[in-house]
Amino acid sequence: MSQISPSGRVQPKIRKPKFPLEQIAKEKGFGKNIPFFTAFLSSLSVLFPEGERFFIRSVKFFQNQVPDETLRNEIKAFAGQEAVHGNVHDKMNERFVEIGLDFRSHEKMFCWLFFDILEKNILKLFPVWGRRLALSITAAAEHFTATLGRFLLSLPESRVAWIDPISWNVIEWHALEELEHKAVAYDVYQTSGGGYFTRILGMTIAVQLLGLLAIVGTIRALFYFGFPNPKQIVRDIRFFFGSPGFAWAVIFYILEYYIPGFHPNKQDDHALIEKFSKIVVYSA
Ligand SMILES: [Fe+2]
Ligand SMILES: [Fe+2]
Repeated sequence: MSQISPSGRVQPKIRKPKFPLEQIAKEKGFGKNIPFFTAFLSSLSVLFPEGERFFIRSVKFFQNQVPDETLRNEIKAFAGQEAVHGNVHDKMNERFVEIGLDFRSHEKMFCWLFFDILEKNILKLFPVWGRRLALSITAAAEHFTATLGRFLLSLPESRVAWIDPISWNVIEWHALEELEHKAVAYDVYQTSGGGYFTRILGMTIAVQLLGLLAIVGTIRALFYFGFPNPKQIVRDIRFFFGSPGFAWAVIFYILEYYIPGFHPNKQDDHALIEKFSKIVVYSA
C-alpha cells in the first residue's frame, strides 16, 4: 500500500515487480482492438527507458538544493521508481522486438534528437539555466505521465478489457507510481527557485517533442498492426474523443499547467492511488 502522510502527501514506494513479459505474443503487444491507441502506447513504451533516465538525472542534479527532508526522501523514491520503470520497459521493448514490433530505430531517433542535439547543446550554451530547463521539461513530462495514468486507471473495466492482461498489469503498476510521484519533480523545481517562464517553456518543449515522437511512433506501429477496419476506427475515435476521452484529458491538463499557481497536488488522486496500490498484480 502507498503511504499517505498527515499532510496528504504520498510517499512513493519502490516496488520490484516481475512480469511474465515473455508471454506477450498472441495479442501483438498491448492488444490490437484499438489500434491507434495501442500504437500510441507502444511508441511511448519505447521512449520510457531513456526518457526516465533523463528524468532521474534532471531531478538528482538539484537534490542538494532541497532543504526539506521529506522531499529529499521523495527524490530517492522517485529515482528508484523511475529506474525500475526504465528496466521493465527495456524488457518489454525487447519482447516487442522478438514478436516483430521493432522500434529500435525510433528509440535511436529520440535519443539523437533529445540527448545529442537538445540536451548536450543547451547544457553547453547555458550550463546553469540549461539544468533548470531540463528539470522543467521533466516536471512537464511527469504531468503528462500522471495525466495518462489517471486517464487509464479511471476507465471502467469494460473499456480496458481489450488490453493484453500482462501489458495491462504493467500499465496499472506504472500508472499508479506516476500518480504517487507526480509532484516530486515539480516541487524540486519550485524549491530550487524555478520560475514561471522556464516552467511553461519546459511544457511547450515537452508537448512539441512528445507530440512529434508519438505521432511518428504511432504511424510506424500502425504498419505493424495493420490498417484498422471501420469497427476498430470507431472504437479508437471513442477512446480518444468519447467521454471520457484521452484527447480531452490531455488538452485540459496541459492547459491547466499554464495557469500561474498550478500545482500537481491540486488534483486529488488519493482514491485512485489507494485503490490500485491494493489491486495491482506484480508477478504471475
Ligand atoms: Fe515512469
Ligand atoms: Fe514519472
